[in-house]
Amino acid sequence: MGEQVGRAPRGDDAAWWRGAVIYQVYVRSFADGNGDGTGDLTGVREHLEYLRDLGVDAIWFNPFYVSPLADGGYDVADYRAIDPAFGTLDQAEQVVREALELGIRTIIDIVPNHVSDQHPWFQAALAAGPGSPERARFWFRPGKGDHGDEMPTHWVSSFQGSTWTRTTNPDGTPGEWYLHLFTPEQPDLNWNHPDVRREHEDILRFWFDRGVAGVRIDSAALLIKDPALPEVPDNPGPGEHPHLDRDELHDVYRSWHAIADSYEGNRVLVGEVWLEDPERFARYLRPDEMHTAFNFDFMSRCWDAKELRESIELTLAAHGLVGAPATWVLSNHDVTRPVTRYGRAESSFAFDAKRSGTPTDPALGVRRARAAALLVAALPGSLYVYQGDELGLPEVEDLPAAAIQDPMHFRSHGVDPGRDGCRVPLPWSGTATPFGFSPAGTTSAPWLPQPTDWADLTVAAQESDPASMLRLYRAAFAIRQNEPDLGDGPMVWITTGGDAVLAFARGPRFACVVNLGNEPVELPAHDHCLLASGPLDDGRLPRDTAAWLRLTVRDPAPVTT
Ligand code: GLC
Repeated sequence: MGEQVGRAPRGDDAAWWRGAVIYQVYVRSFADGNGDGTGDLTGVREHLEYLRDLGVDAIWFNPFYVSPLADGGYDVADYRAIDPAFGTLDQAEQVVREALELGIRTIIDIVPNHVSDQHPWFQAALAAGPGSPERARFWFRPGKGDHGDEMPTHWVSSFQGSTWTRTTNPDGTPGEWYLHLFTPEQPDLNWNHPDVRREHEDILRFWFDRGVAGVRIDSAALLIKDPALPEVPDNPGPGEHPHLDRDELHDVYRSWHAIADSYEGNRVLVGEVWLEDPERFARYLRPDEMHTAFNFDFMSRCWDAKELRESIELTLAAHGLVGAPATWVLSNHDVTRPVTRYGRAESSFAFDAKRSGTPTDPALGVRRARAAALLVAALPGSLYVYQGDELGLPEVEDLPAAAIQDPMHFRSHGVDPGRDGCRVPLPWSGTATPFGFSPAGTTSAPWLPQPTDWADLTVAAQESDPASMLRLYRAAFAIRQNEPDLGDGPMVWITTGGDAVLAFARGPRFACVVNLGNEPVELPAHDHCLLASGPLDDGRLPRDTAAWLRLTVRDPAPVTT
């Protein structure tokens, strides 16, 4: 099973990940094969050809393991089994095989920082009591204060609120506290413990043995904690934070890299690394560590030429330090959909600033999201597409209170709208909910309600509309597959159209020009336009529009700035 079979995807096989288009499947919301209102692996298998036709090189699956779903599956109770809501291990193996037959590789999501509180290790730790070897795999500590009722540190959770929960002893008295950087249902593992390292290395092998081409590493910069558990200093210098970006982490990823390398077929590690310092970020991408990591800097920037240009330059410079390819990400299952975000006056993304009800102009948002799609698909490196972005789905901001499931919402006492708005089940066909998400005749409603006005956004409706977002994505990926200078490789800025224009060449024959200003601009000299995100205005590029150009090779080389 370790060997990868089927048609080799395009490009230089060994470096497939350097320029791949990777489609993120949030299984729960992709397609429901058995009619229970929850997406599943049967649904994924039924739509693999859709992904082939879209032109993607790989799928990244969000966690599909056994889980109480306290955090949408990022609370794993068994890393080697599929949650019955999503299917079976056999089906997971089938998906991996069938996708590969269509030339699509599979990346799975590994969650090493924490487990579910229902995981056998945590249950055993609770049962075994203070001082036990079972508790040593986690962070159990007595409380501070005379009665032990003060938490051991004041670390703040990524989901707001505290990071410690007190246990109750078997006799009913208050017991030790345990650490959870996320929800209490997600106790943090102790990565200084050899069992924890061994277990995760074994999990990696388990999935590599099943033919997966890579792993996405959840919360990858959080695993190691300073065992002295100090408070977070005011301005921690590099490596000084007690639970973020600790230097010891790099050894973990070196050992994982060695495991990936021991398999045939170029298996890769993709890190979820949220770090502001580009140099510290790049350290995870040294040649013997992770292969790539998500570029959240670019995703967080507002729709502004100066901002995006700065991010592109920072990104390419940081990756250049270690010879790693950049990644480009417009959204994922944690952040506001681009169509909604780019339609706002303040279009940057920050978890702290996430508020529902901020006005958005949907037409403007769609226009910009279309231009952004062409921009990121032309930049050097690999590209991640979150399911539904290729349909231009908006963030659903008016979910009924009773439907909301995301712990981020509850832990913020309702201030943060949570992440359910970007996780609404996909519309495939038809004119009424569930829009083909579940099989015809299903009586179970989708696990999150879809807006009733999504008929024009279904895959079926968009397939027959040449001006649709889906057709734009398909056209872009088809060009990208055949354009040798796209994907991995260098880019050169072109000076044209003023400060509000981003323009760059990929090789001698291809240019991407994006107008983020208010007025139409002239395009640089070119032979013809390969693709544009919207109609040109008498040959000029209108505001919030991107164009891919075939350059005339006899033209002078583009001017570098
Ligand atoms: C990552 C995931 C997010 C999850 C969190 C805790 O940030 O993307 O969805 O809630 O980790 O595992």
